Amino acid sequence: MIYTRIVGSGSFLPRTVVSNNDLANDLLYRGIHTSDDWIVQRTGIKQRYLAESDIDTSYMAVESAKMALIDSGIDASDIDLIIVATSTPDCIFPSTACIVQSKLNAKHAAAFDLQAACSGFVYALSTADSFICSGKAKNVLIIGSEKFSRILDWNDRSTCVLFGDGAGAFVLTASSDYGILSSCISSDGSMSDILSVSGHFENGNINGYPFIKMDGQSVFKNAVRVLEESAREVCDKACVDIKDINWFIPHQANIRIIKMLGRRLGVEDDKLVITVDKHANTSSASIPLAFNVAKLDGRIKNGDLVLIQGVGGGFTWGSSLVRI
Ligand SMILES: CC(C)(COP(=O)(O)OP(=O)(O)OC[C@H]1O[C@@H](n2cnc3c(N)ncnc32)[C@H](O)[C@@H]1OP(=O)(O)O)[C@@H](O)C(=O)NCCC(=O)NCCS
Repeated sequence: MIYTRIVGSGSFLPRTVVSNNDLANDLLYRGIHTSDDWIVQRTGIKQRYLAESDIDTSYMAVESAKMALIDSGIDASDIDLIIVATSTPDCIFPSTACIVQSKLNAKHAAAFDLQAACSGFVYALSTADSFICSGKAKNVLIIGSEKFSRILDWNDRSTCVLFGDGAGAFVLTASSDYGILSSCISSDGSMSDILSVSGHFENGNINGYPFIKMDGQSVFKNAVRVLEESAREVCDKACVDIKDINWFIPHQANIRIIKMLGRRLGVEDDKLVITVDKHANTSSASIPLAFNVAKLDGRIKNGDLVLIQGVGGGFTWGSSLVRI
């Protein structure tokens, strides 16, 4: 039996930290009113990191990948496949994954981008697991990297306060012992309009709206519902009781979603890894960023059982249950 084991993790955050008060002051210059109180009460977000103009998605991806490779002890030349989950690629093509492959000198790696909005990282993890378990790859680098600030409408206070920039990476390898016990990914395209960036290029022009548009309440309600269903599904598949899971790392979008999910699953608050207060919603980067915080501060240890869950535009969602 081949398992996919997480043997390294890394993360990158831009230098610029913007508190809610800083953001509220900046928005006031545009005539947009918001406040630290409103943002904290509705979302749990206290600050976000925003990438400077010279920092793009591939730069953040490479920095997080370098850290994950060092952590894993695996050389870039031994990576067979690189998957970059992103909705904010440097350009339409080449893929951000190919730019990363070149910058890391990962000369034996195939590389492609994967777009599943905020579920991108769990989709990448599940895809990498399939490559490894089928014997098609031994070492896979997966990265979630986003410069979401590029696609925020700073005149729309209902979305621009919610997101941040950053990147996180895992190095995965084939193992005979343990690793990913079960995974599932799902979608429902009939809900595509509740969270979208509908703009696209046509004949050199942008057609449609090139910023995030969201029906916050629909997203909230459906996120809690599908995350609960998906958590139960991966646990059933692996014959694991939810109460035996050590750490829950759901997509970091809103503390109220995370806590409501925890209550529905009967999970104590201290098993929930929460970084949305510091990072805001970094889309496909949010899970590896949160994982790395909990690993570096000593919470996640070898042998722990961790549930990783994503949800986002599409509508897409998914979960992986992993023995570390
Ligand atoms: C976006 C979200 C925080 C909004 O919270 P909400 O309780 O649903 O708030 P509403 O949209 O109903 O707006 C309530 C009021 O706050 C106002 N408001 C919206 N954004 C505001 C802001 N940044 N500051 C101050 N007021 C704001 C609205 O205009 C509205 O005012 P009104 O009552 O006078 O019309 C919440 O719906 C949410 O978190 N949804 C999930 C989002 C998410 O997770 N997205 C990513 C998924 S990957």
